[in-house]
Amino acid sequence: MSEDLSIIKGSKEEEYQSLIPQVEALLAGENDLVANMANVAAALKEQFRWLWVGFYVVKDNELVLAPFQGPVACTRIQKGRGVCGSSWKQATTLVVTDVEKFPGHIACSSLSKSEIVVPVIKDGEVVAVLDVDSENYSYFDGVDKRYLEEIVALLNF
Ligand code: SME
Repeated sequence: MSEDLSIIKGSKEEEYQSLIPQVEALLAGENDLVANMANVAAALKEQFRWLWVGFYVVKDNELVLAPFQGPVACTRIQKGRGVCGSSWKQATTLVVTDVEKFPGHIACSSLSKSEIVVPVIKDGEVVAVLDVDSENYSYFDGVDKRYLEEIVALLNF
């Protein structure tokens, strides 16, 4: 069983490693942030087929829905609320293995079982978050954290 898991983790890492140069190429020469968030969300969704992947940006002290791929989602999230608002408040990546066990989790889709939220930090302030939802429990781990943090750092916030 542990051998099977290591194979899965190895291939996930390889998928990120092949995706990052593609993301760099997509972003090269384009400085429009909405266009870039849209293409990053699409590239991630195409690669991994997650349930939902997208951005919320900080506007007037709220998180507001930004480019995403997946089912319709709630448009505004307060600081400290849900996984996204908690990641914003704590300025840290949150990996949630079972969303039903996360106090205050905001269920945009009942299909979502696990989640990772990565803050985008500029000049010491959280300016946005990248949110990813999976239909499977315990889907995200330190590999996703490492590479998604790398990917959001490529964006021109
Ligand atoms: N589940 C998130 C809300 C956003 S949707 O999943 C797209 C949360 O608890 O913050």
